[in-house]
Amino acid sequence: MNCWKVKKLQTQNFRNLKDCVFDFSPGINCILGRNGNGKTNLLEAVFYLTNKKSFRKNTDYSQMVNIEGENPEIIIKSVFENDEQLHSYSLRTSPTHEERFLNNKLEKSKLPSSSVFVNPFDSYHFHTSSTFRRHWVDTYISLGDSEYRKILNRFQKSIKFRNSVLSFGGKNITDQLKAIDEQISEYSYTLTKKRLEFLTSLNQFIGPTFKSIFSGEHQLEIISDSMFLHWDKKRIFDFYRHQEDLDTKSGITQVGIHRDDYIFNVDGLNAFEFCSLGQQKMAFLSLIFAYIELFRYKFNSYPIVLIDDVSGELDSQRWKNLIQYLQNKDFQVLITTANEIFGKELEKIPASRKFYIEHGTLINHG
Ligand SMILES: Nc1ncnc2c1ncn2[C@@H]1O[C@H](COP(=O)(O)OP(=O)(O)OP(=O)(O)O)[C@@H](O)[C@H]1O
Ligand SMILES: [Mg+2]
Repeated sequence: MNCWKVKKLQTQNFRNLKDCVFDFSPGINCILGRNGNGKTNLLEAVFYLTNKKSFRKNTDYSQMVNIEGENPEIIIKSVFENDEQLHSYSLRTSPTHEERFLNNKLEKSKLPSSSVFVNPFDSYHFHTSSTFRRHWVDTYISLGDSEYRKILNRFQKSIKFRNSVLSFGGKNITDQLKAIDEQISEYSYTLTKKRLEFLTSLNQFIGPTFKSIFSGEHQLEIISDSMFLHWDKKRIFDFYRHQEDLDTKSGITQVGIHRDDYIFNVDGLNAFEFCSLGQQKMAFLSLIFAYIELFRYKFNSYPIVLIDDVSGELDSQRWKNLIQYLQNKDFQVLITTANEIFGKELEKIPASRKFYIEHGTLINHG
């Protein structure tokens, strides 16, 4: 398997992190410490290095550079291991430019590694916001399918254009709408097909993952509520045309794949309506781990898995199951917690490496 794992990491001027060297294990790394000391910042540094962006929304350079630092330059140095070979990889970035070096040579493209960030708040957002669910599905399909991203972009532009034509109104918009609907139905057909393929592949992994980690006796699956599933292009086109009067009155495209939603079913019941917070979190974590398995299946590689304090709402048996699941996997994990009891469970993992962080400094490791 072609996995890139981070072996060493050192940052300068990155948020509150001090200039220490983190010597990671290829397996499980536990990042421990009290609130506000730099655990999430460390995960962000790894994510930034591997994905060329932060996982935090609307974060720009000025928020990432140390506010007390005199030098407005962030440097992240690292060593990655791939296929038993070591590679040095570093990043030097300022408000005006960014340079990346692979084995001391200037590197334009991204490192062929990636990381997945598991955020405790995302479970809540996933269960409460259809916009978040749509965005999640679109993002994760796009990560492995650049064609999907391209068509999605075109589709979104066409919907915008259609809405501007609808809101502008006028007598002769039918011909214009016909031409737009021709394109929109073409894009809708392809995107719906690709979404369905993605969900079908995910469901191969999501059920077994949910069962093994969290809940032996329950079934989980994710499904799409799209009305266009299995429709051909002609039928989709006719549908959009049929909507013209309604859409003209409201000045907006009322129905289409831009409004598609996804449903988590636990034993056939809608998890958004029936499940407890703990069950919702288990369902969301199963979705992420299923994605990671799908990633391995497609690319013969695992991403680095960054898990930021997911202990809330889960009971101790679920923590133990989660730890056991992680121990049985080949991917590299960096997992944080400020919860002392969960921290004690993590400390028990025999082959894991532990990092204790205080005020952005590595105070101890083992
Ligand atoms: N640009 C910056 N420069 C200096 N310090 C920063 C910067 N951005 C954030 N911080 C500091 O980093 C600290 C937060 O770090 P982080 O979010 O990694 O904490 P944490 O250990 O994950 O805490 P928790 O357990 O509460 O999640 C805060 O004290 C914050 O003030
Ligand atoms: Mg944190």
